[in-house]
Amino acid sequence: MDYTDEISKRRTFAIISHPDAGKTTLTEKFLLFGGAIQVAGAVKSNKIRKSTASDFMDIERQRGISVATSVMGFDYNGLKINLLDTPGHKDFSEDTYRTLTAVDSVILVVDCVKGVEEQTEKLMQVCRMRSTPVIIFVNKLDREGKNPFELLHELEAKLNIRVQPLSWPISMGTSFKGVYNLYNHSLYLFRPGGVTVADDVLAINGVTDPVLEQQLGDYAVQLREDVDLVEGTHNPFDVNEYLRGELAPVFFGSAINNFGVKELLDTFTAIAPVPGGRPTDVRLVKPGEKDFTGFVFKIHANLDPRHRDRIAFIRVCSGKFERNKMFHHVRMGKNIRFTSPASFLGARKSIVDEAFPGDVIGLYDTGNFKIGDTLTEGEKLMFQGIPTFSPEVFKELVNVDPGKSKQLAKGIEQLTDEGVAQLFTQQQGNRRIVGTVGQLQFDVLQYRLEHEYGAKCRFESMAIYKACWITGDKTEMEKFCRFKSERIATDKDGNIVFLAESEWVLRNMIEAYPDVKFHFTSEFKREMQQVK
Ligand code: G4P
Repeated sequence: MDYTDEISKRRTFAIISHPDAGKTTLTEKFLLFGGAIQVAGAVKSNKIRKSTASDFMDIERQRGISVATSVMGFDYNGLKINLLDTPGHKDFSEDTYRTLTAVDSVILVVDCVKGVEEQTEKLMQVCRMRSTPVIIFVNKLDREGKNPFELLHELEAKLNIRVQPLSWPISMGTSFKGVYNLYNHSLYLFRPGGVTVADDVLAINGVTDPVLEQQLGDYAVQLREDVDLVEGTHNPFDVNEYLRGELAPVFFGSAINNFGVKELLDTFTAIAPVPGGRPTDVRLVKPGEKDFTGFVFKIHANLDPRHRDRIAFIRVCSGKFERNKMFHHVRMGKNIRFTSPASFLGARKSIVDEAFPGDVIGLYDTGNFKIGDTLTEGEKLMFQGIPTFSPEVFKELVNVDPGKSKQLAKGIEQLTDEGVAQLFTQQQGNRRIVGTVGQLQFDVLQYRLEHEYGAKCRFESMAIYKACWITGDKTEMEKFCRFKSERIATDKDGNIVFLAESEWVLRNMIEAYPDVKFHFTSEFKREMQQVK
């Protein structure tokens, strides 16, 4: 097959949601449609349920399962779909944010009872930052949820994006009748627990068709009113607005009942973007370029603690990845050959000989890779847009076994390379401060340091509100660092970081030092370039 055909066949995306909205259920239904799994329940346990600090077994299980389901490839409608898994637990949200750098579009699942939740908003912010095209699936229509107009309004207001329903629910909860497809004007009738059968999909002559009365009884009147209102307030759907990330089409359904899922998948395959170009520090890399490029967006430790090797997940951005070919590791300035790159199909893993833009491959790594690393055929460029976010919880790392300080140093170095947490070092007092997005990460770190590196540690709480990277005028920076010396640290790359004690102090410092720039993601170098 022609190289460009390979690219145009790929659709790489992620399903994201606030925990419990139905991401796992929807993923599973997609995989069933794609033939990647045969029975329901195969990906069901892919999340940490109600986690507590002592849920180590769950953490371990999560690590195991998420390697297997990191990328789920399946074929559908003649396309090769790569579905990238994102962890459900909020303490792993940074993992999710990074996975979003490796996809071309997302499907966002919203629970119709709960509406837009905290994680939904945060995830959507990341999508908007990157103008990622988003399709919204409003799930659990078999429950009494919010009024659909109210939901649309809430989606627009809280997610800060224009939305356009492409299907419309006919009642909900116990009286849920089905959906009317506003795009192709057909009626999908709901049968709880079942797969939609041919009789359940009626091609009708728009909402005026008298067949509505036969099928829906009194609900036909309400549907007509609703559709009039929806069509009166929206222009015909413009796929380009969706592709630019300005407009999110909305579907309604019930994942557990397999209702509206096929319709969603069919629309997704019809409109979702093909692998796109990606910015680097020197130029935009287009997928059709001959030379291979790719970047690491996720690193996963080996499940077997006796083996220290890890799997680095690479998104192919251009050219063709080939097994046993020498590629250039740009940050380290050395060439590496990969003898057993892995691809994933459902939960099965197999060695791949080649991979194309849009694909994700797992490379066995013995410590060469960090998140954001770039591989090329020799060109010196680094992919951008794989930011490290400002952490939210901070603790000081204290060694409790002085005989194992080397192991602790190595362990924390490697685990932070993996992106489990961020490490800041303070010259004053030589303190090591670990920042994460959630409490659970500290439990993971402590457990893994002990079991994989034989190092024992303790974490002590610190009153830090936010860590932000600072840049700016040299004299002003020096002045600021002197004034706030007990709050200054460096990250692993030697960048200067301000550990603000409170929101109030941070705001005051921003005002008091206008020539110092405060950055909330590690992408500040690019921000600086954009400002210039
Ligand atoms: P997540 O990955 O987004 O966290 O959500 P997940 O799919 O695990 O779904 C969360 C819960 O919502 C599950 O119930 C699931 O069965 C249920 N669910 C998913 N889709 C629908 C739907 O369309 N309608 C209804 N009524 N429920 C739905 P659970 O009780 O937490 O788990 P389980 O015991 O069913 O496995």
